[in-house]
Amino acid sequence: MTKKPVIAIDGFSSTGKSSISKIIAKTLGLIHMDTGALYRGITYFALQNCINEDRSINIDKLISSLPDIDLQFQNVDGELQLFLNGNNIDREIRFPQVSDNVSPVAKEAEVRNFLLKTQRDIAEKGGVIMDGRDIGTVVLPDADYKFFMTASQDERARRRFLELELAGEKTDIETVKQNLMSRDKIDSEREVSPLKQADDAILIDNTTINKEETIELILSYIKKF
Ligand code: DC
Repeated sequence: MTKKPVIAIDGFSSTGKSSISKIIAKTLGLIHMDTGALYRGITYFALQNCINEDRSINIDKLISSLPDIDLQFQNVDGELQLFLNGNNIDREIRFPQVSDNVSPVAKEAEVRNFLLKTQRDIAEKGGVIMDGRDIGTVVLPDADYKFFMTASQDERARRRFLELELAGEKTDIETVKQNLMSRDKIDSEREVSPLKQADDAILIDNTTINKEETIELILSYIKKF
């Protein structure tokens, strides 16, 4: 048997990157790592420990506190869950307050460098599918397969709205779309590791196809190992 592959999946939010990567990992027997969780973990720490009087995040304090942060993925019932200094924070990092504050944290070079080793260490042995924004361009430029996922803004806003509605959150589609566009802008225009398609990544546009069809399409590119 040949070595298990390293697969990078980057792309815009609400394209289904993480849930699709999770299923592909199960199908192919790979480890799945959702790198957005790491940026959310740092943001969660900042919201608890590095706050200005106006409740915004004090980025300088966060950067000087990075050595106090120990983020680790641990296997819980067959799934990697995120632990911060020994505490499981996998549920907390999905809270809206974290989502609303994560982009400015993720654009800091010191934060990105701090997380680089954690991500590369996991991929070293192979057999991993990692999803994020800069996996194919910066974190794992030698990945065996690279995919870049996109969908129209309207479709992504519709999906995110349905998710929030299901979670019982009161919002409207226009607010969701504005939020999405603002995150796209920060993620794509930041100086360090901006969200962009790697030259050798395969573009997957799932505006008009569902989750199962997207999975099938991605799997069709991956050779047997
Ligand atoms: O995928 P997500 O929504 O959980 O990502 C949270 C934030 O982290 C988002 O603003 C983009 C950022 N991110 C990043 O900059 N690089 C990654 N590899 C993964 C996520």
